[in-house]
Amino acid sequence: MCGIVAYTGPRQGAALVLEGLKRLEYRGYDSAGLAVVNDSGLEVHKAPGKIAVLEKRLAGHLPEGHTAMAHTRWATHGAPTEANAHPHTDCGGTIAVTHNGIIENAGALRTALTKRGHVFRSETDTEVLAHLIEELHGKGASLGDAVAGALHQVEGTYGIAVLSTREPDTVVAARKGSPLLVAIGTGENWVASDASAVLAHTRSVVYLDDGEIAVVRPHDYHILDLAAVEKEKAVTHVEWDLATIERGGYQHFMLKEILEQPESVRNTLRGRLLEEEGAVRLGGLNLSDDDLLKIDRIVITACGTSWHSALIGEYMMEELARIPTEVEYASEFRYRNPIVDERTLVVGISQSGETADTLAALREAKRRGARTLGLVNVVGSTIAREVDGGIYLHAGPEIGVASTKAFTSQIVALALLTLQMGRLRSLSILQGREVVRALARLPELVAHVLAKAPEVEQIAERLVRTANVLYLGRGYNFPVALEGALKLKEISYIHAEGYPAAEMKHGPIALIDELMPVVFVAPRDAVYQKVVSNVEEVKARGGRVIAIVTEGDTGVSRLADHKVEIPETLDLLTPVLSVLPLQLLAYYIAVRRGCNVDQPRNLAKSVTVE
Ligand code: AGP
Repeated sequence: MCGIVAYTGPRQGAALVLEGLKRLEYRGYDSAGLAVVNDSGLEVHKAPGKIAVLEKRLAGHLPEGHTAMAHTRWATHGAPTEANAHPHTDCGGTIAVTHNGIIENAGALRTALTKRGHVFRSETDTEVLAHLIEELHGKGASLGDAVAGALHQVEGTYGIAVLSTREPDTVVAARKGSPLLVAIGTGENWVASDASAVLAHTRSVVYLDDGEIAVVRPHDYHILDLAAVEKEKAVTHVEWDLATIERGGYQHFMLKEILEQPESVRNTLRGRLLEEEGAVRLGGLNLSDDDLLKIDRIVITACGTSWHSALIGEYMMEELARIPTEVEYASEFRYRNPIVDERTLVVGISQSGETADTLAALREAKRRGARTLGLVNVVGSTIAREVDGGIYLHAGPEIGVASTKAFTSQIVALALLTLQMGRLRSLSILQGREVVRALARLPELVAHVLAKAPEVEQIAERLVRTANVLYLGRGYNFPVALEGALKLKEISYIHAEGYPAAEMKHGPIALIDELMPVVFVAPRDAVYQKVVSNVEEVKARGGRVIAIVTEGDTGVSRLADHKVEIPETLDLLTPVLSVLPLQLLAYYIAVRRGCNVDQPRNLAKSVTVE
């Protein structure tokens, strides 16, 4: 999941695209590169590693030129070396290509191009694009037409930007599967993977859809399809401003986003609670009550952290709305032969709204006649634009690769959707009011738990050198155990596993000894007593127990070595509170281990290739 930004206009482009690229670095940070068109032709500079390495190399001698593009890479084909860094050029060094995606037939194209005398300098799939464009552009085709011609020959996914010395003020961009937008300035224009790269200059953007090409110059831009037919596209005003994507004095985006959760949860609830009716107002579902009543089955599909919130949604839907609900890994759902029809509601959960597997799963569901909803944070993202309706999380930009505030907002959005479905069925107005009141209290309860961060920091101190951690929970808090383990894995690189607490006896209990810390998510809910027995089983084998318990707890607390207390709330909402100490625990451990918390190795914020 690479990041691309390009500029054409009166200003010096190199500095502008490097500044924009830094805001895209959460998309991938294996290598970085820059290309500029100027009087001496095409200048390309690239370096392995983070953008800072490239900047250091260019310090004091940024290339001149008014048309420029830059790329930060998450390696799929070819190791993260300088040669494999983007941009890639043609044989003559007059065309430069940056790419986000995978060219699936690159191998065959490469063989054919090599036979036709082209010389390859990298191991990447991307480089075939530069040579294919060279063949057509060299024969006199405009850059736009040459790019379209090249794309007719490739299979796979792409978001690309292309420069050429023959059209020095032109940037050609194209999209199929990977997000890309055109950003409109005054006398200057941009192309970028997402809006964060250009927010310092403009908030007017045009999102490209699959199969579209943009020919962008300083004073105009044209959107065409691959048959060169011009298309009219709406200009969207991006709500987020620069301040919201800045770290704002925090050491890490992850810490900022963890501590923003009272506000992000409040924003997810804003204007959606109808206390008197014990119901909710969800303006974006785009499905009438009749449509919702026809639904006899729900499938929730997602990846990673979003998949964990989906599990909580399943429990909620079946308990309160009494609708059969299943959770599917999007990457599995899209390739197996799932049974869905017009009475199935397929809900895709995605913070970025760009995760390739979740997008493909929703497209597959739609192809089979299902109604589709998106629970999405990024406004204007592909999933948000392609589903029938949805719920925006309004959690604000999430820059840290490890998802935190999006998770709690996803759980809140699922509770809102459950109320909507439940109140249309068997959920009474009194039950509805109870959930609405508990939801309304959540922001203050979240703030209350986050105030205990120093307690969590002390516990983290004791786990810094551990090699393994087991997370256990039951009911609504089993998925929280999975999420706690994922957070620790992805930012501290400590091996961790989440499990339903009762499953322990069927194997994992063999792992328990005095070296294995076990984190129990054990609020006082319907399955609490069962969890107490599971804690005793661990203590009986000498395990070290860290427990998340409800304030005033006595059962688990007397057994635990360390504990963090959370306030009481309804069972279905406890995950919004119980996950907070686990987010902080992972954060503090990772910081003490000197890990790059915001940009963990090998990861990227949104996975736009399958
Ligand atoms: C979570 O911390 C990870 N960044 C990752 O698992 C993420 O949740 C997953 O890639 C799904 O992303 P999405 O919500 O943007 O679709």
